Amino acid sequence: MSNRFLFLWLLLVSQVAWAQGRVVTELEHNWKFKKGRNEQAYQVNFNDKGWQTVTVPHDWAIYGPFDKEIDKQVVAIEQNGEKVPSEKTGRTGALPYIGEAWYRNQFTLPHYKRGQKVLIVFEGAMSEPRVYLNGQKVGEWAYGYNYFYFDITSQVLEGQKNTLAVQLQNQGLSSRWYPGAGLYRKVQIVVKNPESIDQWGTYITTPFISAEQAKVNIKTKATGGNIRLVTQILDARGKTVAADSTGQRFGKEFEQNIAVAQPQLWSPETPYLYTAVTRLYVGNELKDEVSTRFGIREISYKPNVGFSLNGKVRKFKGVCLHHDLGPLGAAVNKAALRRQLRILKDMGCDAIRSAHNMPSMEQLELADEMGFLFLAESFDEWAKPKVQNGYNRFFEEYAEKDIVNLVHATRNHPSIVMWSSGNEVPDQWGAEGVKRAKWLQDIFHREDPTRPVTVGMDQVKATMASGFGALLDVPGLNYRVHLYEEAYQAFPQGFILGSETASTVSSRGIYKFPVEKAIEKQYPDLQSSSYDLEYCSWSNLPDDDFVLQDDKPWVIGEFVWTGFDYLGEPTPYDDKWPSRSSYFGINDLAGLPKDRFYLYRSRWNKQDETLHLLPHWNWEGREGQTTPVFVYTSYDSAELFVNGKSMGIQKKHAATPQNRYRLMWMDVKYEPGTVKVVAYGKDGKPAATREIKTAGKPHRLVLQPDRTQISADGKDISFVTVSVVDKNGNPCPTATDQLKFTVKGKGAYRAACNGDPTSLEQFHLPTMKLFSGKLVVLVQSTDQVGDLELTVKGKGLQTAKVNLTSVN
Ligand code: GAL
Repeated sequence: MSNRFLFLWLLLVSQVAWAQGRVVTELEHNWKFKKGRNEQAYQVNFNDKGWQTVTVPHDWAIYGPFDKEIDKQVVAIEQNGEKVPSEKTGRTGALPYIGEAWYRNQFTLPHYKRGQKVLIVFEGAMSEPRVYLNGQKVGEWAYGYNYFYFDITSQVLEGQKNTLAVQLQNQGLSSRWYPGAGLYRKVQIVVKNPESIDQWGTYITTPFISAEQAKVNIKTKATGGNIRLVTQILDARGKTVAADSTGQRFGKEFEQNIAVAQPQLWSPETPYLYTAVTRLYVGNELKDEVSTRFGIREISYKPNVGFSLNGKVRKFKGVCLHHDLGPLGAAVNKAALRRQLRILKDMGCDAIRSAHNMPSMEQLELADEMGFLFLAESFDEWAKPKVQNGYNRFFEEYAEKDIVNLVHATRNHPSIVMWSSGNEVPDQWGAEGVKRAKWLQDIFHREDPTRPVTVGMDQVKATMASGFGALLDVPGLNYRVHLYEEAYQAFPQGFILGSETASTVSSRGIYKFPVEKAIEKQYPDLQSSSYDLEYCSWSNLPDDDFVLQDDKPWVIGEFVWTGFDYLGEPTPYDDKWPSRSSYFGINDLAGLPKDRFYLYRSRWNKQDETLHLLPHWNWEGREGQTTPVFVYTSYDSAELFVNGKSMGIQKKHAATPQNRYRLMWMDVKYEPGTVKVVAYGKDGKPAATREIKTAGKPHRLVLQPDRTQISADGKDISFVTVSVVDKNGNPCPTATDQLKFTVKGKGAYRAACNGDPTSLEQFHLPTMKLFSGKLVVLVQSTDQVGDLELTVKGKGLQTAKVNLTSVN
């Protein structure tokens, strides 16, 4: 069919499209939930009346309470170089994630007719899900992080209530961080015709791109006889720019090559997205329709050239992220993810590594839309354990199935530019591990020949000796900055990726003296210093990575550990209580930037000026004592003034990595008043200035919502930063006032977080202490349109209110 006729014909048949296509229903509301053993809960007539009613995504453990005894582990963490076991608390967040729990849901499918096909799709269930429908088991999975689906055609009932029951169980000693618990990602029911496109059956690549045209290759797996496929490609405004029709199938697969003229290329800076609408017909009858967003972009990894996107060499300015969303736990929430990405974008970050497991669909959709390169990881363990009850229990049976699902479900996201088959797997040791690395990489290649595979390696010497590192598409080094050069020489690929870097620890707004480099330093308050000079025995400071990134053309970028603090892994306090979340984040658990944010921003964000001054200037009792001042800035030099007296000009210089990337005045003596920095431009003239004043007593609360308008979808969240200022409006950087929150109108209080890794206050209770003068309140929409108001109160403080609106 010629293109013109195809368009006309499409116009004619598109009228009947809806009635006959697929219907996807998200099972979101009216779930019944209960923790504990419930052997009969799979049965249809089981009485779940007394169970809690919840919406999914749901994380049963995030409500706490925090408890030192939960998952207490007496272990030597070998990958941290420990030889002697010690008692570890808070390693998995000290939240009650262990145990069995059940979810039940009753649903009807009004549009379903016998003879159609029905699938149930889970995008993540923590963990070891067993799924029952109408009293019968339909299937099970093991890994809590993966997407999976079951065909439930033979169990589903037409025109009647269906009873779904999901059993989950989390074992202790099964994780190195907070894994979350429950149906923490979407659950969907897909009803479609027997003649239909297979689940995750579309695979779009762009094997040829020029300024004039791009070749879009679409492979579509479909079921049914006498079927024909019509594909339209829409541009970002929804205009059809190309179309193709084919009746030719090879086995189950249609293959179409469609030319798109003057393609708009996808990149982090220009995240342009096309949509392929694929319709499946028998004769003129529409049987199925699937829309797939994709990007036109070209990636390449070449020896001594490195990584290129659309023909331009670039280095990954990336961060590693765990899946939890701080006070929301693992329950996926698009508003929370979008906020994270906005914060990272402002920092100049352009890449994300989903450590150490499958990313959520929501995160990938946002990465496509907002422009982030994505390193999608799969496992933290292969056959050899890191934790007794980790993935090692499932590796043999599930590894291939898990990779297949990861690739099939996510391969059309242009953001994904690399796969990772593992992180610091103990299988780096020994010949078996080399075979496993090859086996896993081959599975990725078989399922997706267009993207390379990496492993984050920490046993670099061993992987040099065994061939493990040589066989990978992309050799990823976790830390080990002193081995980069040697690894580059030893490995054949001709480049090295910093798959995990820095692991510097700090607590937002907390500064310790004397100011000096230190490894895993501990303080009585269980905080780490925000002078950003404290790191782990296996890791290093950000500046050491900057040197490699800047001086070695064959280093293709870095993924900093981590973009945000996460629940669990409270190094360097994993043997101290209370301490239940990480100190590694560039941003804290509430998403508030630590000083380090500005260090990265000063080199990554090339558009905007960065000029940031630390520490705060409220040091009662430190008068006359040495209180170094650091400046993180995009300028090369600056002058510091304390109460108008110059402390001299500092210039970035190469004496030490810190001197190269930070401006530091090490001998400043504290006196209350004003500390001010003036940055100088290339012409030597003052270009920008910042100052911090010693604050008086907390007086008034200030509320800053990240968005004043949210969607009335019952999910959207406005993140309101609460800070306290003195009577002159100066932020009070050490305030710890206990605050109370109320939300009135068309919204609800969801949670609060202050970023303090030692706080045992429960996120969902409407009260919390400030930490370093700040916290964040999460206000969630309902399904009703209208106004809402957050009120924040604290003893002796002027009450503050903020008005938000919830719209359709
Ligand atoms: C790495 C590991 C991460 C995290 C980090 C902390 O070795 O891959 O998961 O544990 O250390 O520094």
